[in-house]
Amino acid sequence: MKPFKLIYMVAGARPNYVKIAAISRALNAFLRKHPGVQWKVRIINTGQHYDYLMSKKFFQDLNIPVPYCDLGVGSGTHGAQTALVLERFEKLLLQKRPDLVIVVGDVNSTMGCSLASVKLGIPVAHVEAGLRSFDRTMPEEINRLVTDAVSDYLFTSCEDAWTNLRREGISRNKIFFVGNVMVDSLLSNLGKRTGFPSVARDLGLKKYAILTLHRPSNVDREEDFRGIALALEKIQQKIPIIFPVHPRTAKIMKKTLIGRKLADLPHFHLTRPLGYLDFIHLLKHARLVLTDSGGIQEETAVLNVPCLTLRENTERPITLTHGTNYLVGRRCGKIAAAAFKVLDPRHKRRAKRLRYWDGKAGERIVQVLRTILGA
Ligand code: UD1
Repeated sequence: MKPFKLIYMVAGARPNYVKIAAISRALNAFLRKHPGVQWKVRIINTGQHYDYLMSKKFFQDLNIPVPYCDLGVGSGTHGAQTALVLERFEKLLLQKRPDLVIVVGDVNSTMGCSLASVKLGIPVAHVEAGLRSFDRTMPEEINRLVTDAVSDYLFTSCEDAWTNLRREGISRNKIFFVGNVMVDSLLSNLGKRTGFPSVARDLGLKKYAILTLHRPSNVDREEDFRGIALALEKIQQKIPIIFPVHPRTAKIMKKTLIGRKLADLPHFHLTRPLGYLDFIHLLKHARLVLTDSGGIQEETAVLNVPCLTLRENTERPITLTHGTNYLVGRRCGKIAAAAFKVLDPRHKRRAKRLRYWDGKAGERIVQVLRTILGA
C-alpha cells in the first residue's frame, strides 16, 4: 500500500487553469498547515490548449505549480481530441493509480479524463458540476452531462446546480455546494494590477467595452457571425471595443469580408489573447462586456460590470437573476439596443451577493476532500 494518497488534478484548456489555480492554492495552504497529512497532488495538463498565451501564460500569472505531465493532445475534431485524451490519460492512470482524479469545468479534457478514470474504477470529483444550458447542440453541455453522470463527487458553484443534478437522479450524498472557484482566483488576483489598465492606455482609450467571442455556434459559420458583427459595427461608434481574439475566431475574422471590415473599423481594437492578470484588470474597468464565454458572465457579476451574453441560453442563469448579465442572442438589433440601454448613464443595476462566491470555495473543497480521503 502507498504511504500517501495520490491526487491527480486535470486541466486542459484556458478556463480550466483559472479553476485549478484556486484549488491548488487551497490544497497547498492546507498541506503546509498539516504536515502530517500525506497527500501528493499532481497537476496533469492535457495540452488541449497549447499556445503560450492560451496556456503557459496562465500557469505563470496564476502561480500554478508546474504540471507533472503534459499529454500533448492539441487540437482536433471533438471525437479525435476526446479519444486522444482518453487514450493518453488512461495510459498515465495505468502507470500509477491515483486515489482520486479531480476534473473541472466542461471542456473535452474534462469529459475525456473523467471517463478514463471511472472505467478503471478510480473515483472522480467534478468541480463546477450541475450547470445546464439545456441546449444539447452545445458541445460543453454534452461534456457536463457525461462528466456529472460518471463522477463520484459533485462540487457545485450555485444553488440551481443542485436542482439540476437531483432532477437527473444523482444522489444527494454525492453533491457538495462549495461555491465558485473562479471567483476565488478573481478575488485573490484582482489587486495585482493597479491604476488604469495599460492595454487600454496604450490604445489611448479612457473608456472602453471588451469583447470575447469563441463559441462554435457564433464563429464557425459566417451566417451566425454576421448579426454579431453588424451589432459591433454600431456599438463601436458609441464606445471603443477591445477584442482579444481567440485562435478559433481569428480564422473567421480573416476568412470573411465582414470580419476583415470589422478589423479595419477605427474604434474596434484587436489584440492577441491576454494573460489572466491583464484580462481581469481590463474587465474591472470596462463600461460594458460583450461575450459568449461562461466564466466571464460570472466574473462580471462579481465586478458589477454590465455583461451582454451573445448566446440564446446560458448554463449560468444565476448571473441573469443575481448578476449583471443579459442574454441578447446574436441578432444585430437586439444586441445593439441592449448595449445602448446599459451604456445610458441612467441605467442602474447592481449585482446581488451570491452565496459562496466569496473566495473560499477552494477551502470548502479541501474540507470535503478530508472526509473523502480521510485526513
Ligand atoms: C475550448 C472549450 C470551450 C472553452 C474554450 C476556452 C471544448 C469543447 N471547448 O474551446 O468550452 O470555453 O476552450 O477557450 O472543450 N487553438 C489554437 N491554439 C490553442 C488552442 C486552440 O490555435 O492553444 C485553435 C485550434 O485551431 C483549434 C481551435 O483553436 O482547433 C479550437 O480549440 P479547441 O480546444 O478545440 O476549442 P476551443 O474553441 O478553444
